[in-house]
Amino acid sequence: MIRSEGVRIRLPASTANLGPGFDTLGMALSLYAWIEMKVSEQTKFHFYGDEMKDIPEDKSNLVYQVAQMVFDEAGVQIPEIEISMYSEIPLTRGLGSSASAIVGGMAAANALIGSPLSNDKLFDMAAGLEKHPDNVGASLFGGIITAIWDGTHADYIRIEPHEELEVLVVIPEFQLSTSAAREVLPEQISREDAVYNISRSSLLVAALSNGRFDLLGPSMSDRLHQPYRASLVPGMSMILRDAYNYGALGIALSGAGPTLLALVDRRSQQKQELETYLLHTMNEHGIQATVRWLEPSKDGVVIYSDVQSEPFIDMIKGEIKA
Ligand code: HSE
Repeated sequence: MIRSEGVRIRLPASTANLGPGFDTLGMALSLYAWIEMKVSEQTKFHFYGDEMKDIPEDKSNLVYQVAQMVFDEAGVQIPEIEISMYSEIPLTRGLGSSASAIVGGMAAANALIGSPLSNDKLFDMAAGLEKHPDNVGASLFGGIITAIWDGTHADYIRIEPHEELEVLVVIPEFQLSTSAAREVLPEQISREDAVYNISRSSLLVAALSNGRFDLLGPSMSDRLHQPYRASLVPGMSMILRDAYNYGALGIALSGAGPTLLALVDRRSQQKQELETYLLHTMNEHGIQATVRWLEPSKDGVVIYSDVQSEPFIDMIKGEIKA
């Protein structure tokens, strides 16, 4: 059944890998994108916010394209839609902006036609487009996700983030595409490095599940991607080595970078010190950056029950202020 009044959804940014869990671990973060989708006589786009400036406003648009994939899968034809979107998720910085467009477009389209597809089906479709399930899983389901993907189907378990876990991200001004950050990775790794990562990734999942903050540091190191990506992010090697001295429980490249992400105990007395250290180290390496304190987002996609008469952008302004 098509919802003639249209639909509105909200979904979170995400970080991937958390160090050793390359292409498998993800966590939703409290930066959001909002999408409104309506059936229309002619396809139209209304984009708001600085992050949406360079996004194409024609049928090549990713949100439009994935919406059509959902309609095809469900056997309905809605070639013309009106899409409004506001996003606070920085583009191409390792915070899951492309996953948010994919998951957001799919979830909005599915809601628009009365949700015939399950979230698990949307997860398979989204993982198929991204080619890894980490960011899309976190954006869709919220919390912390551990997932496998066999090329067609994804299985996952969602872990509830610990109440005292906070996240500090340092976001460099420059952009780094995932494809460029994957090109520097070797095709093969040694058995020793494979064991290094499997053991740490396994321990990390157990530490996150059990609130073992003392083990986040030892379990968040990686030999599969971060050492190869270090040359792309000036200051990264030093920060990965030393951030523990400034109060980080764990530190990793966020997804394919260039953002770096520190897990922090909310009760830490060293928060300001860590913030200053991260910014200072980036600046020392010639990189302009901003820091943001975020929460793990417990919510994934939220579908608003009613589309009220309030204009889309006014609704969002109200939510951002709240
Ligand atoms: N797991 C992916 C990577 C995340 O590290 O390349 C980026 O989308």
